[in-house]
Amino acid sequence: MMKQRIIRSSMIEKDLAQLLNELDYDGLFLLTDENTNHFAFPRIENIPEIQSAKKCRIASGDNHKNIESLAAVWKFLTENGANRKSILINLGGGMLTDLGGFAAATFKRGIRFINIPTTLLGAVDAAVGGKTGINFNGLKNEIGAFAPAIVVLIDANFFKTLDHANLLSGYAEMLKHALLNSPKMLKEILLCDLEKPDYQRLNDLLVESVQVKERIVEKDPTEQGIRKALNFGHTFGHAFESLSYELNRPVLHGYAVAWGIVCELYLSFIKLRFDKNILINVLHFIKENYSIFDFDCIQYQRLYELMLHDKKNERTTVNFTLLRSVGEIEINQTATQKEIDEALDFFNYGG
Ligand code: GLY
Repeated sequence: MMKQRIIRSSMIEKDLAQLLNELDYDGLFLLTDENTNHFAFPRIENIPEIQSAKKCRIASGDNHKNIESLAAVWKFLTENGANRKSILINLGGGMLTDLGGFAAATFKRGIRFINIPTTLLGAVDAAVGGKTGINFNGLKNEIGAFAPAIVVLIDANFFKTLDHANLLSGYAEMLKHALLNSPKMLKEILLCDLEKPDYQRLNDLLVESVQVKERIVEKDPTEQGIRKALNFGHTFGHAFESLSYELNRPVLHGYAVAWGIVCELYLSFIKLRFDKNILINVLHFIKENYSIFDFDCIQYQRLYELMLHDKKNERTTVNFTLLRSVGEIEINQTATQKEIDEALDFFNYGG
């Protein structure tokens, strides 16, 4: 898979204008959703190339990451004469870059696209690494393709309009990347004051974080092996997320991942002797910033079933990525139901 170019930007208008000057293309197309059209588009609307670009707006929200929105983008591209040399710019969060990326990947067997993520979660995860797709038949990301953006432009100034919870949601994936990478990076991530973020500092940490993902994806673009490392925290995390919907108390993805990280670090501690002091530091950071998910042992069985039915599992065992130490990754690990219950006990009562 082609390597993506990541541009750290603090003046998006200038950097995007310069990028568009450098690129050779025939026809520029811009995809936004209701939110980004209102909050993010004004930051690039004065660029002459953007003024003359053809624009398409879709409804926002994960429930619109569907075949109807996708068909609307294909129709827009066709009716406005897009061809194999055209470029689509995706300006939005994870939902929009996933859908726009897939529309570009499939239109005339693939045209180039640029991602400009406008949420922290989108920047640190969805916009980078080439996973594109839509939800289908009630299943998340059921239809999709591996297709990287040619460029990802990252500007933390967009995140100033995010509420605190959405900022934290993205930050959980940055914490995950730090744990997969190095003690130094973990220390920096745990030191950041999320109540009063310094956006320049956040941009630096974010670009570093995105590079961790890039390095992993480069080794295994289609998730046959080491890319599974990026699922760290997500086996428990997806189960927490699904349970929160079942209980009618939905939580943001990153909160569920943060709680999942605690449980999977605990499994790393009991199975691979991960350092207990680091586990406790991370537990405190997460309890302080993300609070806890209110559930008790009655729900342990349901959480286990949800993990077994995660589409990444074989339905008889639950698969995890665990850590021997910070940066020392072990994929394809399993745990018994008893060990999983013990991790949930630690989450609820540990520290
Ligand atoms: N979100 C995990 C990955 O991109 O592989």
